[in-house]
Amino acid sequence: MTCNVMEMEKELRSFTALVETTLLQDLHIRSEKPHDPIRVKKVPKEWECIGTGNYAAVFMHQQHKEWVVKVYARDVEGLEKEAAVYEKLGVHPSYSSLLHKETYYLILQRLKGMTLYDAFHKGVRIPESVIEDINEALDYARKRGLNPYDVHGKNVMMEDGKGYVVDVSDFYKKGEDSKWRDLVRAYYKIYLPFFYKYPIPVPYLLLDMVRHSYRFYKKLRKLFQKDA
Ligand SMILES: Nc1ncnc2c1ncn2[C@@H]1O[C@H](COP(=O)(O)OP(=O)(O)OP(=O)(O)O)[C@@H](O)[C@H]1O
Ligand SMILES: [Mg+2]
Repeated sequence: MTCNVMEMEKELRSFTALVETTLLQDLHIRSEKPHDPIRVKKVPKEWECIGTGNYAAVFMHQQHKEWVVKVYARDVEGLEKEAAVYEKLGVHPSYSSLLHKETYYLILQRLKGMTLYDAFHKGVRIPESVIEDINEALDYARKRGLNPYDVHGKNVMMEDGKGYVVDVSDFYKKGEDSKWRDLVRAYYKIYLPFFYKYPIPVPYLLLDMVRHSYRFYKKLRKLFQKDA
Protein backbone atom coordinates (compact mmCIF):
# COMPACT_ATOMS: atom_id res chain seq x y z
CA MET A 1 0.00 0.00 0.00
CA THR A 2 1.40 3.39 -0.96
CA CYS A 3 1.83 6.18 1.53
CA ASN A 4 -0.93 8.23 -0.15
CA VAL A 5 -3.51 5.47 0.12
CA MET A 6 -2.63 4.95 3.79
CA GLU A 7 -2.92 8.68 4.46
CA MET A 8 -6.31 8.79 2.75
CA GLU A 9 -7.57 5.80 4.74
CA LYS A 10 -6.44 7.46 7.95
CA GLU A 11 -8.19 10.70 7.03
CA LEU A 12 -11.34 8.82 6.11
CA ARG A 13 -11.32 6.97 9.45
CA SER A 14 -11.11 10.22 11.36
CA PHE A 15 -13.82 11.73 9.14
CA THR A 16 -16.08 8.74 9.86
CA ALA A 17 -15.51 9.31 13.57
CA LEU A 18 -16.43 12.97 13.10
CA VAL A 19 -19.65 11.95 11.33
CA GLU A 20 -20.56 9.58 14.16
CA THR A 21 -19.69 11.92 17.01
CA THR A 22 -20.98 15.22 15.63
CA LEU A 23 -23.33 14.93 12.63
CA LEU A 24 -25.34 11.89 13.66
CA GLN A 25 -25.55 12.87 17.32
CA ASP A 26 -27.63 15.95 16.73
CA LEU A 27 -29.25 15.59 13.36
CA HIS A 28 -33.02 15.75 12.89
CA ILE A 29 -34.29 14.61 9.51
CA ARG A 30 -37.65 13.24 8.52
CA SER A 31 -39.47 11.82 5.53
CA GLU A 32 -42.98 13.33 5.53
CA LYS A 33 -44.28 12.39 2.07
CA PRO A 34 -42.73 9.75 -0.21
CA HIS A 35 -42.81 12.04 -3.26
CA ASP A 36 -41.36 15.06 -1.49
CA PRO A 37 -37.79 15.70 -0.34
CA ILE A 38 -36.66 14.76 3.15
CA ARG A 39 -37.21 17.50 5.71
CA VAL A 40 -34.14 18.65 7.59
CA LYS A 41 -35.08 20.09 10.97
CA LYS A 42 -31.69 20.52 12.65
CA VAL A 43 -28.10 20.42 11.42
CA PRO A 44 -25.21 20.30 13.92
CA LYS A 45 -22.59 23.06 14.05
CA GLU A 46 -19.95 23.05 11.28
CA TRP A 47 -22.16 20.89 9.05
CA GLU A 48 -24.25 22.16 6.16
CA CYS A 49 -27.07 20.46 4.30
CA ILE A 50 -26.18 20.74 0.61
CA GLY A 51 -29.10 18.83 -0.82
CA THR A 52 -32.09 16.63 -0.18
CA GLY A 53 -33.80 13.91 -2.17
CA ASN A 54 -36.86 11.77 -1.47
CA TYR A 55 -34.74 9.22 0.42
CA ALA A 56 -31.79 11.03 1.88
CA ALA A 57 -30.25 14.32 2.93
CA VAL A 58 -26.66 15.20 2.03
CA PHE A 59 -24.24 17.08 4.30
CA MET A 60 -20.83 18.68 4.03
CA HIS A 61 -18.42 19.58 6.83
CA GLN A 62 -16.75 22.99 6.78
CA GLN A 63 -13.27 21.47 7.06
CA HIS A 64 -13.78 18.59 4.62
CA LYS A 65 -15.38 20.07 1.56
CA GLU A 66 -14.10 17.33 -0.74
CA TRP A 67 -16.48 14.76 0.81
CA VAL A 68 -20.20 14.56 1.53
CA VAL A 69 -22.30 12.37 3.79
CA LYS A 70 -25.54 10.99 2.37
CA VAL A 71 -27.80 10.07 5.30
CA TYR A 72 -30.80 7.90 4.45
CA ALA A 73 -34.04 8.86 6.21
CA ARG A 74 -36.11 6.02 4.74
CA ASP A 75 -35.83 2.80 2.70
CA VAL A 76 -32.39 2.21 4.07
CA GLU A 77 -32.08 -1.05 2.11
CA GLY A 78 -31.57 1.23 -0.90
CA LEU A 79 -28.22 2.22 0.56
CA GLU A 80 -26.73 -1.23 -0.11
CA LYS A 81 -28.06 -1.10 -3.66
CA GLU A 82 -26.53 2.32 -4.22
CA ALA A 83 -23.19 1.05 -2.91
CA ALA A 84 -23.38 -1.89 -5.34
CA VAL A 85 -24.08 0.50 -8.23
CA TYR A 86 -20.95 2.51 -7.39
CA GLU A 87 -18.91 -0.67 -7.36
CA LYS A 88 -20.18 -1.62 -10.83
CA LEU A 89 -19.68 1.89 -12.13
CA GLY A 90 -15.98 2.12 -11.37
CA VAL A 91 -14.17 5.39 -12.03
CA HIS A 92 -15.56 7.94 -14.50
CA PRO A 93 -15.10 11.75 -14.52
CA SER A 94 -18.85 12.45 -14.60
CA TYR A 95 -19.68 10.46 -11.47
CA SER A 96 -18.91 10.72 -7.80
CA SER A 97 -17.34 7.75 -6.03
CA LEU A 98 -18.17 5.88 -2.88
CA LEU A 99 -15.53 6.09 -0.15
CA HIS A 100 -17.22 4.45 2.79
CA LYS A 101 -20.55 2.91 3.82
CA GLU A 102 -22.32 2.31 7.10
CA THR A 103 -25.88 1.15 7.84
CA TYR A 104 -27.52 4.57 7.51
CA TYR A 105 -25.07 6.66 5.54
CA LEU A 106 -22.58 6.79 2.70
CA ILE A 107 -19.49 8.95 2.37
CA LEU A 108 -19.10 10.13 -1.22
CA GLN A 109 -16.78 12.32 -3.20
CA ARG A 110 -18.36 15.76 -3.43
CA LEU A 111 -19.32 17.00 -6.87
CA LYS A 112 -19.03 20.77 -7.11
CA GLY A 113 -21.38 23.06 -8.98
CA MET A 114 -25.16 23.11 -8.98
CA THR A 115 -27.99 20.84 -10.04
CA LEU A 116 -29.66 21.62 -13.37
CA TYR A 117 -32.87 22.16 -11.38
CA ASP A 118 -31.16 24.92 -9.35
CA ALA A 119 -29.50 26.37 -12.46
CA PHE A 120 -32.90 26.65 -14.13
CA HIS A 121 -34.39 28.17 -10.99
CA LYS A 122 -31.60 30.77 -10.73
CA GLY A 123 -31.56 31.57 -14.43
CA VAL A 124 -27.98 30.29 -14.85
CA ARG A 125 -27.36 29.20 -18.47
CA ILE A 126 -27.09 25.44 -19.01
CA PRO A 127 -24.74 24.88 -21.97
CA GLU A 128 -25.27 22.01 -24.41
CA SER A 129 -21.91 20.48 -23.38
CA VAL A 130 -23.49 19.64 -20.00
CA ILE A 131 -26.25 17.62 -21.69
CA GLU A 132 -23.69 15.89 -23.93
CA ASP A 133 -21.45 14.95 -20.97
CA ILE A 134 -24.42 13.47 -19.12
CA ASN A 135 -25.54 11.53 -22.20
CA GLU A 136 -22.03 10.15 -22.50
CA ALA A 137 -21.93 9.26 -18.79
CA LEU A 138 -25.27 7.42 -19.04
CA ASP A 139 -24.00 5.45 -22.06
CA TYR A 140 -20.95 4.52 -20.01
CA ALA A 141 -23.22 3.25 -17.20
CA ARG A 142 -25.16 1.11 -19.71
CA LYS A 143 -21.89 -0.41 -20.91
CA ARG A 144 -21.17 -1.38 -17.29
CA GLY A 145 -24.47 -3.29 -17.16
CA LEU A 146 -26.45 -0.60 -15.34
CA ASN A 147 -29.79 0.98 -16.21
CA PRO A 148 -29.79 4.81 -15.82
CA TYR A 149 -33.01 5.23 -13.90
CA ASP A 150 -34.50 8.29 -12.17
CA VAL A 151 -32.21 10.74 -13.92
CA HIS A 152 -33.93 14.09 -13.42
CA GLY A 153 -32.96 17.73 -12.93
CA LYS A 154 -32.02 17.34 -9.26
CA ASN A 155 -29.86 14.28 -9.97
CA VAL A 156 -27.58 15.93 -12.50
CA MET A 157 -25.17 18.79 -11.94
CA MET A 158 -22.96 21.16 -13.87
CA GLU A 159 -19.78 23.08 -13.25
CA ASP A 160 -17.68 25.06 -15.74
CA GLY A 161 -19.63 23.69 -18.69
CA LYS A 162 -19.19 20.08 -17.62
CA GLY A 163 -22.04 17.73 -16.72
CA TYR A 164 -22.17 15.28 -13.81
CA VAL A 165 -24.55 12.60 -12.54
CA VAL A 166 -24.96 13.02 -8.81
CA ASP A 167 -27.44 10.30 -7.89
CA VAL A 168 -27.06 6.73 -9.17
CA SER A 169 -29.15 5.09 -6.46
CA ASP A 170 -31.77 3.69 -8.87
CA PHE A 171 -29.44 2.48 -11.62
CA TYR A 172 -29.95 -1.13 -10.51
CA LYS A 173 -33.69 -0.98 -11.37
CA LYS A 174 -35.22 -2.72 -14.37
CA GLY A 175 -37.50 -1.13 -16.95
CA GLU A 176 -37.47 2.11 -18.83
CA ASP A 177 -37.44 5.47 -17.17
CA SER A 178 -38.10 8.35 -19.53
CA LYS A 179 -37.29 11.31 -17.25
CA TRP A 180 -33.89 12.08 -18.77
CA ARG A 181 -35.15 11.55 -22.34
CA ASP A 182 -38.05 13.95 -21.64
CA LEU A 183 -35.68 16.46 -20.07
CA VAL A 184 -33.35 16.36 -23.10
CA ARG A 185 -36.32 16.80 -25.42
CA ALA A 186 -37.52 19.83 -23.41
CA TYR A 187 -33.95 21.19 -23.40
CA TYR A 188 -33.76 21.26 -27.20
CA LYS A 189 -37.37 22.23 -27.86
CA ILE A 190 -38.02 24.82 -25.16
CA TYR A 191 -34.87 25.61 -23.20
CA LEU A 192 -32.31 26.31 -25.98
CA PRO A 193 -34.60 28.45 -28.15
CA PHE A 194 -36.04 30.47 -25.26
CA PHE A 195 -34.56 30.20 -21.73
CA TYR A 196 -30.96 29.93 -22.94
CA LYS A 197 -31.35 33.16 -24.88
CA TYR A 198 -33.26 34.94 -22.12
CA PRO A 199 -32.17 33.37 -18.82
CA ILE A 200 -34.78 34.40 -16.29
CA PRO A 201 -35.11 33.00 -12.75
CA VAL A 202 -38.05 30.62 -12.36
CA PRO A 203 -39.59 30.37 -8.85
CA TYR A 204 -39.35 26.98 -7.09
CA LEU A 205 -43.13 27.03 -6.70
CA LEU A 206 -43.56 27.01 -10.46
CA LEU A 207 -40.89 24.31 -10.87
CA ASP A 208 -42.64 22.16 -8.27
CA MET A 209 -45.94 22.64 -10.08
CA VAL A 210 -44.26 21.38 -13.28
CA ARG A 211 -42.78 18.44 -11.30
CA HIS A 212 -46.19 17.45 -9.91
CA SER A 213 -48.01 17.85 -13.23
CA TYR A 214 -45.28 15.79 -14.94
CA ARG A 215 -45.90 12.94 -12.47
CA PHE A 216 -49.67 13.25 -12.98
CA TYR A 217 -49.29 13.26 -16.78
CA LYS A 218 -47.04 10.17 -16.65
CA LYS A 219 -49.56 8.31 -14.47
CA LEU A 220 -52.40 9.23 -16.80
CA ARG A 221 -50.42 8.09 -19.85
CA LYS A 222 -49.70 4.76 -18.19
CA LEU A 223 -53.40 4.29 -17.45
CA PHE A 224 -54.40 5.00 -21.04
CA GLN A 225 -51.65 2.76 -22.39
CA LYS A 226 -52.91 -0.07 -20.16
CA ASP A 227 -56.44 0.41 -21.49
CA ALA A 228 -55.31 0.57 -25.10
N1 LIG B 1 -21.72 13.60 -4.23
C1 LIG B 1 -22.42 14.72 -4.13
N2 LIG B 1 -21.81 15.93 -4.29
C2 LIG B 1 -22.51 17.09 -4.19
N3 LIG B 1 -23.84 17.14 -3.94
C3 LIG B 1 -24.49 15.99 -3.77
C4 LIG B 1 -23.83 14.71 -3.85
N4 LIG B 1 -24.74 13.73 -3.65
C5 LIG B 1 -25.92 14.36 -3.46
N5 LIG B 1 -25.79 15.70 -3.54
C6 LIG B 1 -26.88 16.71 -3.40
O1 LIG B 1 -27.88 16.20 -2.56
C7 LIG B 1 -29.13 16.03 -3.26
C8 LIG B 1 -29.81 14.76 -2.77
O2 LIG B 1 -29.00 13.63 -3.00
P1 LIG B 1 -29.55 12.35 -3.79
O3 LIG B 1 -30.14 12.80 -5.07
O4 LIG B 1 -28.44 11.37 -3.89
O5 LIG B 1 -30.70 11.84 -2.79
P2 LIG B 1 -31.89 10.81 -3.07
O6 LIG B 1 -32.77 10.85 -1.87
O7 LIG B 1 -31.33 9.48 -3.48
O8 LIG B 1 -32.63 11.48 -4.32
P3 LIG B 1 -33.90 10.94 -5.20
O9 LIG B 1 -35.12 11.54 -4.62
O10 LIG B 1 -33.58 11.53 -6.56
O11 LIG B 1 -33.84 9.45 -5.19
C9 LIG B 1 -28.76 16.04 -4.75
O12 LIG B 1 -29.82 16.50 -5.54
C10 LIG B 1 -27.56 16.99 -4.75
O13 LIG B 1 -28.01 18.34 -4.72
MG1 LIG C 1 -31.72 12.47 -6.02
